[in-house]
Amino acid sequence: MTGGAGYIGSHAAKALKRAGYRPIVYDSFVAGHRAAVKFGELVEGEITDVEALRRALREHDIGSVMHFAAFLDVGESVAHPVKYYRNNVGGALTVLEAMVAEAVPHFVFSSTCATYGEPVETPIVETHPQRPMNSYGESKLAVERALPHFETAHGIHSTTLRYFNAAGADPDGDLGEDHSPEIHVIPRAIEAATGGRGLQVFGDDYPTPDGTCLRDYVHVTDLADAHVRALEVIVDTRKSGVYNLVERVCGRRVPWTLAPRRKGDPAVLYASPHKAQAELRWTPRFPDLDAIVGTAWRWHQAHPHGYGDR
Ligand SMILES: NC(=O)c1ccc[n+]([C@@H]2O[C@H](COP(=O)([O-])OP(=O)(O)OC[C@H]3O[C@@H](n4cnc5c(N)ncnc54)[C@H](O)[C@@H]3O)[C@@H](O)[C@H]2O)c1
Repeated sequence: MTGGAGYIGSHAAKALKRAGYRPIVYDSFVAGHRAAVKFGELVEGEITDVEALRRALREHDIGSVMHFAAFLDVGESVAHPVKYYRNNVGGALTVLEAMVAEAVPHFVFSSTCATYGEPVETPIVETHPQRPMNSYGESKLAVERALPHFETAHGIHSTTLRYFNAAGADPDGDLGEDHSPEIHVIPRAIEAATGGRGLQVFGDDYPTPDGTCLRDYVHVTDLADAHVRALEVIVDTRKSGVYNLVERVCGRRVPWTLAPRRKGDPAVLYASPHKAQAELRWTPRFPDLDAIVGTAWRWHQAHPHGYGDR
């Protein structure tokens, strides 16, 4: 699990361990947290280091790779595209190169709704045109587009999971969200609601019911479960596939101030989860905003400084 010390990877490690797998976390701690590596052995390393990756694959007798490691700040990607292409495209290609060399046949890829860009049709289905509006989305799409070539040339089967906005925290309180700086709206809203930095809403003149951007969310524990399903399906069927991972939730009031639109933000990202639910037999357990915010709220109350290491 590259990036297994991060927010989503750490929750997926817990789900995999519970399902009887032997997760091995491969992370450089450029983000992520040592205290989040609770459910698998740790290998510290860079995804741009092919020799270190090959050693890790060999020494731990790896059967499948889940590739979470990436940079993910849309705003930063607009300002610093090279950072995003180097880590997200270069890093992913290096992981695939190591897999080819060590004959590891299964790849589960963390992609994103940012590959769609401005929707031409909602709900967004997996065949919707992909026209990213920022280099973060472009970097993920570049990897998506490379994957069929690795299948043809090297027999690497892949499952691409396009996450919508991940939110919430482990319901047992073992893990939570701690990005630095925090860019995601639910932890930012919790911070605002508990007297910390104010929440900014980027633009109120979008063509949406209240003028603000419209987004879909998915509970991080449901995302984690989807990775277990994706692994089971790819190992069983050896067929590649692409899935939206999203749930339906609705808004709630938090104190906020208005800020200008951000570059690279589509107005509406509203997706269909049906393919993932049917083909991965994935049923989200936390499909409403109360559960998402509730688990995040409890984790942030118990960990006001996150993992406390930054
Ligand atoms: N959080 C979301 O809402 C969201 C939505 C869509 C897609 N995604 C994708 O999901 C994945 C995980 O997101 P997250 O929120 O858990 O992010 P995160 O920053 O919490 O985790 C990413 C992890 O990858 C590691 N990493 C990054 N670059 C590395 C490198 N060069 N070498 C080794 N390790 C490296 C970091 O140290 C970190 O632990 C990313 O690929 C992201 O693009 C996230």
